[in-house]
Amino acid sequence: AAAANDDIRRRIRTIPDFPKPGVQFRDITTLLLDPQGLQLSVERMLDQIAVPVDIVAGIEARGFVFAPAIALALGAGVLLIRKDGKLPGATIAEEYALEYGTDRIAIHADACTPGANVLLVDDLIATGGTARAAVRLLRKAGATVRQAAFVIELPDLGGAEMLRGENLAVTSLVQ
Ligand code: PRP
Ligand code: HPA
Repeated sequence: AAAANDDIRRRIRTIPDFPKPGVQFRDITTLLLDPQGLQLSVERMLDQIAVPVDIVAGIEARGFVFAPAIALALGAGVLLIRKDGKLPGATIAEEYALEYGTDRIAIHADACTPGANVLLVDDLIATGGTARAAVRLLRKAGATVRQAAFVIELPDLGGAEMLRGENLAVTSLVQ
């Protein structure tokens, strides 16, 4: 597993000063382009799943790459957590803080049957604001959320630790 995670780590590219000076942007496009990188990252995320899963919820946009791959392997469905204003049916939304200002994510109000076991998936957790809003939305919709799985965790920003305080397991492949 350690060797596999090194194989993932070295396929992630770091772009300095994006989207602004001082940020080291972890870029997964290079991981995804590489067939082994893509396969390994999905396999390793599957290895870390420790809860029953009926639905895999992916966060727009990069969570949409991993959620269906995991769902297909588990025989689960996919739930799209979208930026607010994109879903056509009745929605519930949750606001979260960005560095400057706020953003909102939404799901269809009827997306989960009560008690459905939902696994949250995204590419990366930084401050955890996005993931925490997602967990709150899913729980508001009646879902049971016991794990959130990421490819990358940025430990300095404390998001994964904060999210563990929401009473769920938080897993990542590389830190
Ligand atoms: C990135 C990333 C996570 C979120 C993590 O998405 O894919 O969803 O930020 O940041 P946080 O833990 O500080 O909330 P972004 O908002 O850039 O959207 P995108 O995937 O549409 O580019
Ligand atoms: N890479 C990708 N997405 C991000 C990052 C990063 O370094 N930080 C916050 N969102």
